[in-house]
Amino acid sequence: MPKKADKYEAVSELARRRGFFWPSYEIYGGLSGFISYGHLGTVLKRKVEAKFRDVFVTPLNIQEIESSIVMPAKVLEASGHVEAFKEPMVSCRNCERKFRADHLLQEKAGMTDTETEKLSLEEIVEKITEYEITCPECQGELGTPKYFMTMFSTTIGPYSDAVGYGRPEAAQSIFVDFRRIYETARERLPLGVVQIGHALRNEISPRQGPVRLREFTIADIEFFFDPNEPQCPQLKQFENEKLHLMPTILKQRDSERTLEITVREALQKGYIRTEWQAYFMILAKHFLEALGVPEDKQRFIEKLEWERAHYSAQGYDQEVFLDRWGWTEVSGHNYRTDYDLKRHMEHSGVDMQVFREYEKPVKTKRLVVEPILAKIGPVFKKNASKVASLLSQADPKQIEESILKNGEYIIQGMKILPEYVKISHKDIDETGRRFIPHVVEPSFGVDRLVYVTLEYSYERHGDRTLLKLPRELAPIQISIFPLVRKDGLAKKAKLVSEILAKEDFAVEYDEAGSIGRRYARADEAGTPLCITVDYQSLKDDSVTIRDRDSWKQSRTGIKTLVKSLRDYYKFKKDLEDMGELL
Ligand code: GLY
Repeated sequence: MPKKADKYEAVSELARRRGFFWPSYEIYGGLSGFISYGHLGTVLKRKVEAKFRDVFVTPLNIQEIESSIVMPAKVLEASGHVEAFKEPMVSCRNCERKFRADHLLQEKAGMTDTETEKLSLEEIVEKITEYEITCPECQGELGTPKYFMTMFSTTIGPYSDAVGYGRPEAAQSIFVDFRRIYETARERLPLGVVQIGHALRNEISPRQGPVRLREFTIADIEFFFDPNEPQCPQLKQFENEKLHLMPTILKQRDSERTLEITVREALQKGYIRTEWQAYFMILAKHFLEALGVPEDKQRFIEKLEWERAHYSAQGYDQEVFLDRWGWTEVSGHNYRTDYDLKRHMEHSGVDMQVFREYEKPVKTKRLVVEPILAKIGPVFKKNASKVASLLSQADPKQIEESILKNGEYIIQGMKILPEYVKISHKDIDETGRRFIPHVVEPSFGVDRLVYVTLEYSYERHGDRTLLKLPRELAPIQISIFPLVRKDGLAKKAKLVSEILAKEDFAVEYDEAGSIGRRYARADEAGTPLCITVDYQSLKDDSVTIRDRDSWKQSRTGIKTLVKSLRDYYKFKKDLEDMGELL
């Protein structure tokens, strides 16, 4: 008996056939990890992004930016990605095929994802020997594992030494441009910045369509706040809302159990470290609900220390249950602290601190390190001003301790001798504080969200397929049909179509095939309403409206159609409110 298609297969088939998405470069056999969106998918994706903006961006007046995809190596060296974005690979000495070493250990040694993630290359060799793992294809001997960089690299311009990478996240340009964004936002904190755009990751073997892509759209919010003022006033309205949470404390016991816990309790118990992160997790739950995923099909799993990204002090993955893959990550919520800004400050020498004025000056004694330019200038020449700037940003206590203990202080590989600086305690009226803002980051994979939306709206009823897309996400809002083409019905239906298009409704006029087939096509495209022009329309200027989900119909006048449809889409009224039910 043929295997029953799972939802992924069914959704992908529909997506290809109706123009949601398909594998890129199909005529050349396709390319794993890349997809193209068709006319329905492109609009759906745009609407998912619009919903994201409604939920996160508009209410918090988050600033949106757009920057380039290619990044010079120094940005990603500073951010730690060059060091962290790598996976262990092993080749067969006989057939030369390559495999992910951690995946082989999971398959052949029964190790879990979390166990393999902790292993060094040496430990991987030991495990391969211990479990006598050979090539899965030809049983040949496996070679020495090596790391494979999962960022796409390129050279910028004609100089082969100008290495660039495709950005693996949209977040980095927000950090790099932080100073300018902060100034243009009139130096306010907290300050949210968002970027929605393409990112690249050279995944080793993506086989999950839009769920794991090498080129994908990421929506990264970097939310900057003063660590001394971590309160989120907006959280109050949601503090009694519950999340399905699996904090590490439960996870370490290898339990699959999630807690259903209010946000307030999760903060009090320390399961979530910052109020802003808790707030974004609640919004993320609302966002997924708006895409059609019920609350009980969502959960938040805290990452164990060795699973966390290199920049994260605490991380939760929001997961959604998918038919083929089970629990699947759709967003990451990381507390990035001051990690990124600090790293860019150290590597670029540019001050990333912000200044906040006290209400009145505070008298204080402060250890001060002043660079002596007359000494630094001749020694460091063109780097002298960078050295002076780095010294003024460094911790004076560390400089003093190092000079007392070692007779020198090393800053970015440059040696600072005692005679290059004046170290003293000064009485000062401190007018404010300088500090690097902290960051919480909610980050979403948009393509995955599009797929999740499709899978959760997909239904089969006998031999009919129905896409119950939330009405505000439907790429086509209204399909308009003449009952038959003749007797002036097509002309009138086109007129209705034009009226609605002029009022900015997304309409599709369809006169091909039987009315039943046209309804079926509209159901498959997820179109919430169909309007039919029939013989009665010629007599009294009325039309029928048919609802996708209930298949109920009502009759309404063309004159009041625009208002009724606006009520339906904008004010969430139902078919019952639009004319007379048939
Ligand atoms: N910026 C989020 C991520 O890289 O996953």
